[in-house]
Amino acid sequence: MDSNKRPENMERITNLELANAFIEQQIKEVRTQVGNKQVLLALSGGVDSSVVAALLIKAIGKQLVCVHVNHGLMRKGESEQVIEVFRNQLDANLIYIDATDRFLDLLAGVAEPEKKRKIIGGEFIKVFDEEASKLKGISFLAQGTIYPDILESDGVKAHHNVGGLPEDMQFELVEPVKLLYKDEVREVGRALGLPSSMVDRQPFPGPGLGVRCLGAITRDRLHALREADAILREEFDKNGLAGKVWQYFVAVPDFKSVGVRDSKRYEGWPAIIRAVNTTDAMSATIEEIPYSLLHHITARITAEVEGINRVLLDLTPKPVGTIEWE
Ligand code: XMP
Repeated sequence: MDSNKRPENMERITNLELANAFIEQQIKEVRTQVGNKQVLLALSGGVDSSVVAALLIKAIGKQLVCVHVNHGLMRKGESEQVIEVFRNQLDANLIYIDATDRFLDLLAGVAEPEKKRKIIGGEFIKVFDEEASKLKGISFLAQGTIYPDILESDGVKAHHNVGGLPEDMQFELVEPVKLLYKDEVREVGRALGLPSSMVDRQPFPGPGLGVRCLGAITRDRLHALREADAILREEFDKNGLAGKVWQYFVAVPDFKSVGVRDSKRYEGWPAIIRAVNTTDAMSATIEEIPYSLLHHITARITAEVEGINRVLLDLTPKPVGTIEWE
């Protein structure tokens, strides 16, 4: 039987009971596969790798070694949350690497989007590889592969995902959620007790804020983007949009316009708000954010974020605009 094919009779995991049954079964299978050996996992903080981490911690505890690489392009508070949930709450064996300087130094002056993606993806593998080679006695590599990844393995995610690892790594794979759809992975994550902010997290591209800090990334503009994005997310949370809108974020282009603040000329970047709904990311429609909320978000971003002096709203559906700006 092809172990990468979901059996026809496999029931869709839609509730806690089914999720718990799945978890019990996977715990047994993982223990049988792994024995007393060690397993390595690149933990990005995204839904899939977080659920795999929580599942494996339950199955094999400290035999799992999680490596979280902060590429400096995470959203505000994300790496901190990975440390809080996995190291502090779940007592995981977690190696945290702050590689911000390595990534940002390499990206300095690079404006071309595909080149930026390549640098981020390549460096991620390098950092992870370096960490892996320091560890002794690792036999397995766990991955948060999910069923759509298998179905679309020649499609979108495969070619631009940052999580791709070098082919010469000699590990056997542990992929406990590879036959699950995204909604099932979330159900399993909830059953494992992961916080909603992790399980119900909106999709976030592997290259992170790197593709939203448009053109050549600078630290000051990246900082402004991260702060503006955090305000947008906070306001969507508070106003009941977070659970409703599929993906929402801020992009900051690399040009300035003139403005005025405290009766003085104030040049700054625009923050572009994008909020879209879709089922498969192949096409997308625009969420109609209430104007009162848009005014409030604009007031907050322009008052609180150093370097931003305008807020714009992207009204373009996909097609013709892609979801991301680069
Ligand atoms: P686009 O911009 O192509 O985005 O309409 C469709 C979905 O894919 C995400 N995306 C990426 N995800 N690495 C990823 O892992 C990437 O380089 C990347 N580019 C776009 C995007 O956020 C949206 O959900």
